[in-house]
Amino acid sequence: MGMLDGKAALVTAAGGGIAGAIARKFAAEGAAVCCVDVNEETVARTVADIEEAGGKAIARICNVADEAAVKTTVDQTAEEFGKLEVVVNAAAASEPLHTVANMPLETWQEVMDVNLTGMFLVSKHAIPHMQAAGGGQFINISSTFGHIAWPQRPAYMATKGAVRQLTRSIALDFAPDNIRANSILPGAIETNRLLARTPTIEQVRAKMVPLHPIGRLGQPEDIANAAAFLASDQSSFMTGSDVFVDGGFTAV
Ligand SMILES: NC(=O)c1ccc[n+]([C@@H]2O[C@H](COP(=O)([O-])OP(=O)(O)OC[C@H]3O[C@@H](n4cnc5c(N)ncnc54)[C@H](O)[C@@H]3O)[C@@H](O)[C@H]2O)c1
Repeated sequence: MGMLDGKAALVTAAGGGIAGAIARKFAAEGAAVCCVDVNEETVARTVADIEEAGGKAIARICNVADEAAVKTTVDQTAEEFGKLEVVVNAAAASEPLHTVANMPLETWQEVMDVNLTGMFLVSKHAIPHMQAAGGGQFINISSTFGHIAWPQRPAYMATKGAVRQLTRSIALDFAPDNIRANSILPGAIETNRLLARTPTIEQVRAKMVPLHPIGRLGQPEDIANAAAFLASDQSSFMTGSDVFVDGGFTAV
């Protein structure tokens, strides 16, 4: 018996490293999973992995910052699965390095639109389905950079801090509906995102492993395990929490 048997879930950014692992873990634990991404090829690969392993998944191409597309995707998922109870909000833009003084407004806006407004929109349209299902769980992917500062990432850090407060706001307003909302703050996790600014994973490890007391970088499965726990009834007394999965990065 899986931790998520019979649950219906929607995971944004499921073509990516972390959310792809979350989608695979949820399916392995018995959930039906709608895998959402703007990247048709990578999200199809996640769904194929799930189906090969005997799980249930569908792919939907959707920009989380586009309200009409989000509403259609969320409503169709609930229709296809008969309900929607679990949502993982993981989509994030990968912006170039800037300080506030030299960041173009368009860059700032794109990061806000995807990382924060996208989370708002998916949550807004998922809540009525969770209410109809008698409850639900949001797992919102923040970052340790929503807690501590890092050079030249002002928009990313502002959104990741805001994610924690948006999550608490949902937790408070919808606790009476049996809807829980928690944030996960990952440390450095080995996905393609880490290669956006550093050419090889060896270079990333050389720089980042010494900052993680546990002596390694995280794997997407480390986040997937925490997400499955938060989506399951085993975390039924947790809402509005920040869950650090960071190898001790912020403990120093
Ligand atoms: N990798 C890390 O070290 C790390 C650390 C802390 C937090 N995070 C967070 O984890 C989440 C996943 O990151 P990842 O490392 O797996 O990144 P990734 O680059 O592997 O995946 C990101 C995915 O998001 C999708 N995406 C981008 N814009 C989108 C949009 N508008 N609508 C729908 N999908 C969109 C991309 O196509 C991609 O598949 C992000 O929120 C990121 O900020 C990552």
